[in-house]
Amino acid sequence: MSKSSRWDSTENESKHLPIYRHKAKLVQAVEGSTFLVVTGETGSGKTTQLPQYLHQAGMCRNGKIGITQPRRVAAITVAQRVAQEMQCTLGREVGYQVRFDDCTSQDTVVKYMTDGCLLREILADPVLSQYSVVILDEVHERSLNTDILLGLLKKMFSDPAKSTKGRSFPLKVVVMSATLETDKLSAFLGGCPVFAIPGRTFPVTCTFGTAVGPKDVESTGYVKEVVRMALDVHTSELAGDILVFLTGQSEIERACDLLFEKAESIDYRYDVQDQTVEGLLILPLYGSMPTDQQRQIFQPPPSRIRKCVVATNIAATSLTINGIKYIIDSGFVKQLNHNSRVGMDILEVVPISKSEAEQRAGRAGRTSAGKCFRIYTKEFWEKSMPEYTVPEIQRTSLTAVVLTLKCLGVHDVIRFPYLDCPEERFLLEALKQLYQFDAIDRRGKVTQLGELMVEFPLQPGLTRAVLKGSSLGCQDLLLPLAAMLSVENIFIRPGNPEKQKEADKKHRALATKSGGMNDFATLLSVFQLCKSSDRPSAWCKDNWIHWRALKSAFSVETQLREILLRLQQKRDFPVETFDGNKSELFRRCLCTGYFTNVARRSVGKVFCTMDGNGSMVNIHPSSSLFDQEADLNWVIFHDVLVTSRVYIRTVCPIRYEWVKDLLPKLHEVDVYELSSVARQEVTDEEMIKWETREAAKRQPEVSTEDIV
Ligand code: CDP
Ligand code: MG
Repeated sequence: MSKSSRWDSTENESKHLPIYRHKAKLVQAVEGSTFLVVTGETGSGKTTQLPQYLHQAGMCRNGKIGITQPRRVAAITVAQRVAQEMQCTLGREVGYQVRFDDCTSQDTVVKYMTDGCLLREILADPVLSQYSVVILDEVHERSLNTDILLGLLKKMFSDPAKSTKGRSFPLKVVVMSATLETDKLSAFLGGCPVFAIPGRTFPVTCTFGTAVGPKDVESTGYVKEVVRMALDVHTSELAGDILVFLTGQSEIERACDLLFEKAESIDYRYDVQDQTVEGLLILPLYGSMPTDQQRQIFQPPPSRIRKCVVATNIAATSLTINGIKYIIDSGFVKQLNHNSRVGMDILEVVPISKSEAEQRAGRAGRTSAGKCFRIYTKEFWEKSMPEYTVPEIQRTSLTAVVLTLKCLGVHDVIRFPYLDCPEERFLLEALKQLYQFDAIDRRGKVTQLGELMVEFPLQPGLTRAVLKGSSLGCQDLLLPLAAMLSVENIFIRPGNPEKQKEADKKHRALATKSGGMNDFATLLSVFQLCKSSDRPSAWCKDNWIHWRALKSAFSVETQLREILLRLQQKRDFPVETFDGNKSELFRRCLCTGYFTNVARRSVGKVFCTMDGNGSMVNIHPSSSLFDQEADLNWVIFHDVLVTSRVYIRTVCPIRYEWVKDLLPKLHEVDVYELSSVARQEVTDEEMIKWETREAAKRQPEVSTEDIV
C-alpha cells in the first residue's frame, strides 16, 4: 500500500473514533486548567489521538508532549501508530523511550514512554522543563511508577514557587483513565475538571464454564480448556475475531501450538457453522515479542479468515484490536506480588479481579454485540476473584521507589501524597533494605553510594554489585552479567523432547565451559563467547540460545557502561584493590549485592535463607548446581520461583567469610525503630537517644569497608 493511501485510511479511521467529536473542547479543557482528568472507554482514541490534537493546536511550541504508559509494548506500538498517522518517521517528531531503548531525537515533540522513564527524567530535571504537557495514561492500571508520578506532580504544584522555578511557561498535566475512579482522581488533584468522552458500547453476553473452580486456583490445566473453547467458538459461532486472555509467553506459545495443530484438521466444508469462514489466523501477543510481529496484530485478517489473538493482560486496556467479537477468558493473570514467605517480589499467576474480568469482556463489545466465554465457574467468580485489583504500590517492594523519592528531596516518605497509601511496613521494609545496602544512613539521608545507585535502572542489589565491581576495576565481569540478568530468558526450551535433550546437553556444556557450578558465571560466559564469535547468530543457534535476547543484552551492556562512565567522570568514584583470582573477585562482588539472598545448606538438598525469614528453599533443576552434593554449604541466588516448593534460581556457591561481616546488617535494624527515622523531622536529640539505645543493643559496628 502506498504511503498516502495508508494515511487516508488511518485518517478516516481516526475520524470515526468517539474522541474526534470532542477535539476542540478537549484542547480547550487542557489549555484551561493545570490538571485535567480524561476518561473514556478503552478504544475511544485517548492515547493515540489526544497528543495529536494538542500538537495540532500548537501546544508543542514551548516544549514536548510526553505520554506515559505502564507497559513498554504499549509505548512502542502506540508511538509507531501515531508516527504513521502523523506521516513521520518513528523517532523524529514522534518517538518513544522505554528502559534500554531510546527511539527519540532532537526533533521529537510527541514522546511516548514508560512511566519509569519519566520518573528518571524527573530525577535529572525536577520541573520537567522540557515539557509543555505531561499525560499520565492508563492511570486505572495503578502501576507503582504512575502512582508515584501522580504524587510528585501533585506535590510540584502544591508549592507554586517550586513548580514555576526553572520553567518559563506553565506545565499542563492530563491524567487519563479508562474506568471510574475519576472522582477520586479529581479530588486528589485538588478538584480538577473531568472530561468524560461518551462511549458507545454494545452488549456482551457472558457465560461461565465448568473447567476451573475455586479449588483450581493453583492449576495450570486451563491452557487446554482455553484452546478447546477457542476451537469451539471458531467452528460454531458466526464470523468475528477472537481474543484469548492467558498469562504469559510460554503459556501463550503452547496455546498457539495446540491451536495450530488442532485447527489443521478442521474440514471447512462440514465442521464450521458459518460458511463464510474458511480459515483461522493465530497470533500471539506478549510483552517481549519483536515489535514487527506486534504490528501484525492490528492488521485486519485476509477476507474469510478469522483472526485469533492469544494475549496477556496487555490487550485488556493498553492495546485495542479492532474486529474482536469473542473473548475467551482464562480468569488468570501474572502479577508481581511481595511474598512475605521469602521476603521478595515474585511473579505469580493469580485469579483476576471481577472488575478486570468485566474489562476483558468489554473488549468484545466495541463495534457490535459480542460474547465472552469464561472458562471458570460462577463459584470461582464468587469465591476466588477479588472485587478490584490491588494497586501495585500496596503489593510490591518499594525499595527502588523510596530511593528515588529520597534523591528527589522527598525525605518524609510516609507522608508523601499517595493516591492510596502503601502499608507503612512496606515503606519501612524499603528503608531497611536501603540501609542494609548503605544507600541511606541511619538518619534516612541518601549516602554517596545511594546517589550512585539511583542512576542505574537495575534493582538495588545488582546495582550495588556492579558498583563494587567497578570500584575494583572488574566492570567487564559485572556489566555483562547485569545486562544478561536484565533481558528475558536466554535459553531456548524446545517443546519436542528429543530436541529438548539436545538443548540441555548444549546448555550443560556451556555451564562446564565457564568452570561449572556457577550460574552467574555461565551467563557471563555465554555473553563473552557469543560476543567474540565471528557469527554470533549462528553461535546462538548452535547452542540453543535466543539470539534476540543476546542482542538486547549487548545493547543493555553498552548503555550500562555509558551510565557508569558518566558517573566515574562526574563524582568521587571509589577505587579499591583486590588480590586474588578472578572467580573469587567476581563472586565477592556479587556478595556485596546479594547478601540479602544468602542460603545455607540445612538438611540433604534443602537450604535455609539467612534473611531472618529462614525459609526452606531448593535449588531449581535448571541450575548447574542442582545435582551437586559435596562442598556446597553456602550459596547466593538471584531469584526465587514459588510453586508447591520454593526454588532458588541462578545460584552460585560462596564462602561464609565473604558474607560474614555483611549478614549482621540484616538483623541490625528493627523496622519499627526506623519508623521515626523515616520522617525527616527527627531532632538531633532524638537521634542521639536512638543511637545510644541502638549502640547498647549492638556489637561494635562492622565497617562495610572491610567487606572485600
Ligand atoms: O487510548 P484508548 O483506549 O482510548 O484508544 P487508542 O489506544 O487511542 O485506540 C484508538 C484506535 O487506534 C483503536 O481503534 C485501535 O485499534 C487503533 N490502534 C491501532 O490500530 N494500532 C495501534 N498500534 C494502536 C491503536
Ligand atoms: Mg489508551
